[in-house]
Amino acid sequence: MKPQLSGKWALVTGASSGIGEEFANQLAARKMNLILTARREDRLQQLAEKLQKQHGTKTVVLPADLVKPEELNRLVDEVRSLTDPVTLVVNNAGFGEISTIENSDLQKLIDIVQVNISVVTRLTYEFLPEMISRNDGGVINVSSVTAFQPVPYMGVYSASKAYVLHLSEALWAELYETDVRIMALCPGTTRTEFFDKAGVTSWLSKNFAHTPSQVVRKALLFYERSHPFCIPGIKNWLVAWITKFVRRRRVVLEAKKVFHNLATGEEKD
Ligand SMILES: NC(=O)c1ccc[n+]([C@@H]2O[C@H](COP(=O)([O-])OP(=O)(O)OC[C@H]3O[C@@H](n4cnc5c(N)ncnc54)[C@H](OP(=O)(O)O)[C@@H]3O)[C@@H](O)[C@H]2O)c1
Repeated sequence: MKPQLSGKWALVTGASSGIGEEFANQLAARKMNLILTARREDRLQQLAEKLQKQHGTKTVVLPADLVKPEELNRLVDEVRSLTDPVTLVVNNAGFGEISTIENSDLQKLIDIVQVNISVVTRLTYEFLPEMISRNDGGVINVSSVTAFQPVPYMGVYSASKAYVLHLSEALWAELYETDVRIMALCPGTTRTEFFDKAGVTSWLSKNFAHTPSQVVRKALLFYERSHPFCIPGIKNWLVAWITKFVRRRRVVLEAKKVFHNLATGEEKD
């Protein structure tokens, strides 16, 4: 059965840019009311005003730095203090780094684990029980095509996305007999600020990239059909699946060739 989204509330993390901003656009177009979070409050406010004008939907802006556990706690308390229940959680906030071991910023790697894993775990388990008791709602966890294989020089990031994929698939099976759904979204390269922040702006100019609009359209279609995961784009789908038929050591050594120059700075901007 297609989920009823209109008039209900969704929480979207990382809504200030890229894929999260596009989730906000497309969910508001489906007449969902939104709780938007990220650190850049000005961007969230601008988006909220635009959505109100375009779609007449309600938007609550709750800025938070999700690296900080106390801000995550505050976010959860503020969401719970709203009168209507959350029907959809989009765990989208996330970031990565491409680096050699020697040049890695250890604090940044720990922060990646916090935002990409701990926050996703907390928000998923925080809201699923009440969705189960209403037999209505769901979670979209933004993973990545990198979840399907280890990626040298992005070990923490790709492992964090593998966690998100495995967690989401496991919960999908647990919820199989209910109307509550959970899906991992596994995009390939998508045209967002992600690569600037990871220090590899050149990646976008040298590789095919989907737009956030394409990625989110596919994600919502797959979510409505209760898929456990969604890989937008046939090429990304093939890259993900080919890893099943090649020795793991071959897969990871081939991936190393792709990312070596980026990580060592030979292709960095
Ligand atoms: N772009 C790609 O090719 C690609 C491919 C596969 C998966 N993904 C995944 O897609 C998701 C969205 O990324 P994107 O590509 O749309 O990149 P993006 O434009 O950089 O968006 C990342 C979002 O996460 C938020 N965020 C980052 N750190 C945060 C923190 N400490 N606290 C709160 N919010 C934080 C950012 O908001 P503020 O900076 O305002 O806090 C921003 O809204 C990520 O999980 C990423 O791993 C991206």
